[in-house]
Amino acid sequence: MSTDPNLNTDLLYQPITLGAVRLDNRIAVAPMTRTSAHPDGRATDEMARYYERFAEGGFALLITEGTYPDEAWSQGYLDQPGIANDEQAAAWRPVVERVHGAGARIVMQLMHAGAQTQGNRFKTDTVGPSAVAPRGEQLGIYRGSGPFPTPRAMSAQEIREVIALFSRAAERARDAGFDGVEVHGANGYLLDQFLTDYMNVRTDDYGGSTGNRVRLAAEVCAAVRRAVGPDFVVGVRVSQGKVSDYTYKWAGREDDARIIFGALAQAGVDYIHTTEHHASEPAWEGGQSLAHYAKQFGGGVPVMANGGLGSPKIAVRLLESGCADLVSIGKSALANRAWPKQVRERRPLENFDAQLLQPLANVKDVEL
Ligand SMILES: Cc1cc2nc3c(=O)[nH]c(=O)nc-3n(C[C@H](O)[C@H](O)[C@H](O)COP(=O)(O)O)c2cc1C
Repeated sequence: MSTDPNLNTDLLYQPITLGAVRLDNRIAVAPMTRTSAHPDGRATDEMARYYERFAEGGFALLITEGTYPDEAWSQGYLDQPGIANDEQAAAWRPVVERVHGAGARIVMQLMHAGAQTQGNRFKTDTVGPSAVAPRGEQLGIYRGSGPFPTPRAMSAQEIREVIALFSRAAERARDAGFDGVEVHGANGYLLDQFLTDYMNVRTDDYGGSTGNRVRLAAEVCAAVRRAVGPDFVVGVRVSQGKVSDYTYKWAGREDDARIIFGALAQAGVDYIHTTEHHASEPAWEGGQSLAHYAKQFGGGVPVMANGGLGSPKIAVRLLESGCADLVSIGKSALANRAWPKQVRERRPLENFDAQLLQPLANVKDVEL
């Protein structure tokens, strides 16, 4: 695929500020779990080189793979990196330094897998909002198979602990040199489990109404913001679909969007990252895109859109529409580590080859 020579791509290359951090352009690498850390969750040299290549390729912002924040129930996959202790934090330093050295910024995605875990070396059981198993099956590319186990419902005390553990992990990320953190509130992981009506049948302040179901994500964002101070970027990722239930829609549609994006913006985030299969398509029949609602109800917080934006034309159109301020690119970035430079210089783009993630999703193509 080559970029249409008549497409004006200038908008992609406008600088933008998220919180206190200035980005050279509006193109980010989407968070992608590659399960390539040491078994104890420390980042490797290979990972440092993997991330550095995106920075060299012109992405202004890299969002790391989902990283677990605690030594309890948050790990989702074997060989996933963590930020749960000082050793793991120290191992991220060279990653950050190499990315900064190549001129990009890097934000760590903090991810608590909750009931959607398929590999946790700290625990054998799983937790979630309620004793309801995620739909669908575990992912083979992350060594999973078969249905998810039914989790144990978290207690009020455990909810308080999760909020505190996210905050401590964010502080560790800040101290390791990261430019920010992204709270993973999407794709069926713990915070999205709380948001999801069929996963959350709690009768306390964290269940029932949409306002109650988004409470945990909003409290995590607010606590992280308080912990790290104003100069460190705090973002949040939101989706309807889940890793194992990708057609799920918010039952309250636009009303839900108003409550959810409103609560997250109120929590003091610097950006909202929406992800859908196709970012520019309606979030539900007769509706607008999810990014549109994030913009409409997010109180002016910058919106990053994700999903199928590897096509430069679609990415530019979305920015032009005003629904999104930035785009993040996943699979097309794996196929084109220098996507921003390739597009700007009108060099051809490779199609993503799913074989790259087979038989496992680990990094295989990095030369040290
Ligand atoms: C290998 C792989 C791993 C992923 N891991 C994560 C993750 O850790 N956190 C997350 O929020 N999304 C994750 N995603 C979803 C991507 O961030 C993105 O939403 C998805 O690939 C759609 O965007 P795209 O069409 O640009 O690829 C992953 C996607 C892929 C392909």
